[in-house]
Amino acid sequence: MQITIKSGNPEKQRTACLIAGILEPRRLSPAAKTIDSISKKFLSNLLRRGDIEGKMGQSLLLHNVPGMLADRVLLIGCGRERDLTDNQYRKIVTNSIKELKQTGAMEAVNYLSELNIKGRDYYWKIKQAVEVTQNTIYNFTEYKTKDKTSRRKIRKLTLIVPTRRELPIGEQAIENGMAISRGINLTRDLANQPSNVCTPTYLAEQAKQLAKTYKTIKVDVLDEDEMTKLGMNSLLSVARGSDEPAKLITLEYKGAKKNLKPIVLVGKGVTFDTGGISIKPAAAMDEMKFDMCGAASVIGTICAAAEIGLPLNITGVIPSTENMPGGSATKPGDIITSMSGQTVEVLNTDAEGRLILCDALTYCERYEPDVVIDIATLTGACVIALGNHATGLMSNHNPLAKDLLNAGETSCDRVWQLPLWEEYNQQLTSPFADMANIGGREAGTITAACFLSRFTGKYHWAHLDIAGTAWTTGKNKGATGRPVALLVQYLLDRCNKNKPVA
Ligand code: BES
Ligand code: MN
Ligand code: ZN
Repeated sequence: MQITIKSGNPEKQRTACLIAGILEPRRLSPAAKTIDSISKKFLSNLLRRGDIEGKMGQSLLLHNVPGMLADRVLLIGCGRERDLTDNQYRKIVTNSIKELKQTGAMEAVNYLSELNIKGRDYYWKIKQAVEVTQNTIYNFTEYKTKDKTSRRKIRKLTLIVPTRRELPIGEQAIENGMAISRGINLTRDLANQPSNVCTPTYLAEQAKQLAKTYKTIKVDVLDEDEMTKLGMNSLLSVARGSDEPAKLITLEYKGAKKNLKPIVLVGKGVTFDTGGISIKPAAAMDEMKFDMCGAASVIGTICAAAEIGLPLNITGVIPSTENMPGGSATKPGDIITSMSGQTVEVLNTDAEGRLILCDALTYCERYEPDVVIDIATLTGACVIALGNHATGLMSNHNPLAKDLLNAGETSCDRVWQLPLWEEYNQQLTSPFADMANIGGREAGTITAACFLSRFTGKYHWAHLDIAGTAWTTGKNKGATGRPVALLVQYLLDRCNKNKPVA
């Protein structure tokens, strides 16, 4: 879908559908007010008759509104003005696109960006509208042989700024929003693939494909022999039970001069997690195809960064494998020596994410990173703690944690911080090795991060546990593309910070 920006009055818009807000109780938004006066009180008459009150979730589709050049006027309930939060705004825009899809209009002009959202400017409102719109029209139909698309597709959407003065920031907002959406869609597409298609080899192929599209991206893939030479026994211990060969994929995006230290993103790429010998129960096990969402988000974020052309250097490191209970699989009690030299007693083969990440985190040292952020569907405990609303955040460097918390607020892709105190670290004590790979039932999200922290002593590091946020379950099951929006916001903020203040 093409999205453009415009300024101008509603009555002048020659369009298949014009979208305007109605606030509670029966109050006209500015665009609706203009339409009302042009149409000689057409809308206020409808409001008086009670056709729409302005409640969230309400909508009303009108044809042939007097004085209007638009074929249709779609009114969208926005709730009370004082309740207009970031998330309400996103819901309103989502509703407008869902309703628009039902109309058969293939093109529209959306005035909802004129709503007043506390503390948010036009740049923010337009960028969010783009992301929310793209998110709403996304579907994954690759394996449907019928009903691929039920209706006519929306081809073009125009968003509105009040005057020509705001056009440049509107353009910028659309450009960034479109780039982020492209990254999010790529992440969702990769993650929604079934695990019989999306193997470590497939992920490596997709990364190489990205390097073909953007000449600022270079990709390198290590096979199991090369990983053996590097001493990545922890990563390889997870791959032992599977016939699919493990890969270590690195992507390097160069948007700044060579000597600028890279921001390194590490993504868990378990393309299917059976649990290994500590096998998982059957219920919902299919969802463990999503155990590579961290990897997919690294690829999506780097795609967005390249699309925007961010003046940064960003390195993606993706350890990728299946976790299967094959005849050579690692068994509970087995002890392995990680690339760092530290030994690990594998008490539960289902705690495999940390085993592949620890070697990847050691591998990161060679890039002399500015910061390292890992992204992983690491613990079921995180789903219990934060649900699907916030990604778990843990860090050894508070300024980095603060930056990520702020980026989460701005992007509406929120994170919430948990502590990494020494007391938790002690839960990982093993009688036989330097550490065990599990720390007991209590504080499972934190002890998983404590495990990783033993491999990140040489740099500033943050860990994002996306177990609750990376996909949704139920009848709308599917990857969300989180936390690409968060990560790109963090990267954008980094660029603005480095700019001299005018
Ligand atoms: N990939 C899972 C975490 C997960 C489970 C994410 C369910 C989303 C939904 C991870 O590899 C895992 O199995 N973790 C174990 C750790 C435990 C054995 C310490 C868990 O959370 O149960
Ligand atoms: Mn597991
Ligand atoms: Zn896993």
